[in-house]
Amino acid sequence: MNSILDKAYSTENFRKRGHEVIDMLADYLADAKSDSAEVKAIPWQEPEEQLAYWQHDFSKPSLDNPLELFQDVLEKSIQVHRKRYLGHQTTPTLPISILATTVMATLNQGMGVYEMGMVGNTLEKILTEHLAQKLGFSGEASGFITSGGSLGNLTGLLAARAAATNIWNEGYTGKQQLAVLVSEEAHYCIDRAARIMGLGTDGIIKVPVNDKFQLRTDLLEEYYQQAVAAGKQVIAVVGCAGTTSTGSYDNLEAIAAFTKKYGLWFHVDGAHGAPAAFSPKYRHLVKGIEQADSVVVDYHKMMMTPSLSTAVIFKRGGDAYKIFSQRAQYLWSEQDTEEWYNGGKRTFECTKAMSALSVYTMFRAYGDDVFAENIERLYGMGADFAALIKANDNFELAYEPECNIVCFRFKGEGDLSKLNQQIRRQLMEEGRFYIVQTILNGDLYLRVSLMNPLTTENELQELLQEIEVKAAAVAV
Ligand SMILES: Cc1ncc(COP(=O)(O)O)c(C=O)c1O
Repeated sequence: MNSILDKAYSTENFRKRGHEVIDMLADYLADAKSDSAEVKAIPWQEPEEQLAYWQHDFSKPSLDNPLELFQDVLEKSIQVHRKRYLGHQTTPTLPISILATTVMATLNQGMGVYEMGMVGNTLEKILTEHLAQKLGFSGEASGFITSGGSLGNLTGLLAARAAATNIWNEGYTGKQQLAVLVSEEAHYCIDRAARIMGLGTDGIIKVPVNDKFQLRTDLLEEYYQQAVAAGKQVIAVVGCAGTTSTGSYDNLEAIAAFTKKYGLWFHVDGAHGAPAAFSPKYRHLVKGIEQADSVVVDYHKMMMTPSLSTAVIFKRGGDAYKIFSQRAQYLWSEQDTEEWYNGGKRTFECTKAMSALSVYTMFRAYGDDVFAENIERLYGMGADFAALIKANDNFELAYEPECNIVCFRFKGEGDLSKLNQQIRRQLMEEGRFYIVQTILNGDLYLRVSLMNPLTTENELQELLQEIEVKAAAVAV
């Protein structure tokens, strides 16, 4: 058997290596959990050093066993399962969802047309309708899964445009200056989506936030009237549940009332925080979300599934068919019908991963409760960490956190932005902790997203101590 392909498709090899890979990953997960050794959340390496390493690796003779490559990748990557990984909103994936992803990769379903994704398209319907119900929508609501929050938000805004104009068919005539109203704290993908849609800088109207970094709904009327007076056609208002930098929840009820008054599309970016709806304790944060026309929820943030997997929910499920009305003779026998099971009629993607399997597996194994518990633990940890910060005179809390995203800074002498930036850089280079930074009201703050339910108060206390040590070193 000389053929490379025949060898590469050897199932015995797959079986053997598969066991080894699972063992390797199980060891990593166990080690991350026990945190016994001097483990690093991030094995920091300068980009050029990293590039040189992999260029050299790429030039090596063929691999006999991929295990050493995987081990290498693991050791050189940021490790989101570590209890001291406290950086961006990337989830420590639930082990069962990792297994489901292996099945997904093996089956490699297409999803665009029913026969290429019979199970996947069906699971998407079940999952998005279940999520819609959790968010408080009526039975008419439905949706699909797309590849990430950025694409999900673009999809929601395209639905808003389809409801207000016929640009999809007529093209952009240049007569309409379309605009959206959005919090100045919204994720940059909203701005990007609006620009992709041709709205330009003037079409993205950023509404200021209050001291809790929530959109100031008292300014909506003024900003709307200014836009209208300037000849713009406002098509949507975007609410955040919660924002990226601070995890702040906009007053969705107030935004809903405003959009109703003027017949505007109400889109909610709930990529991070909409799963609060699973928890009786935190459900109040998303009050009003059920009045939205469209909502985006990242399963790959607070719902522990591997990237990328994002639900786009429509209050009126039928709206989803108006976004990408497309003909594809080679895929669908009926071009103008609206059947839920031909996924490609509603999604940006043609080929798309069956990420639904991961999410579905978690629901089947653990039910809604695992998501409620995750939210409650992590949001509770946010409040506990805020309390630790407030109890320590060396630190300043930027705001009272509503969820698991907490921003704070060390209160030393001189330029605090520079000091905190240096502290973060030192922490990252050392690698034991991984935290990030953000700018609030022009000043730099340290930022943590508490994504790992296994992180304890010990690690959080230790982080504050480490920051104090770093601050002392920076000051010298
Ligand atoms: C609130 C919010 N919306 C949208 C996004 C973009 O989502 P994705 O990274 O899945 O494209 C993020 C990412 O952090 C986010 O925090």
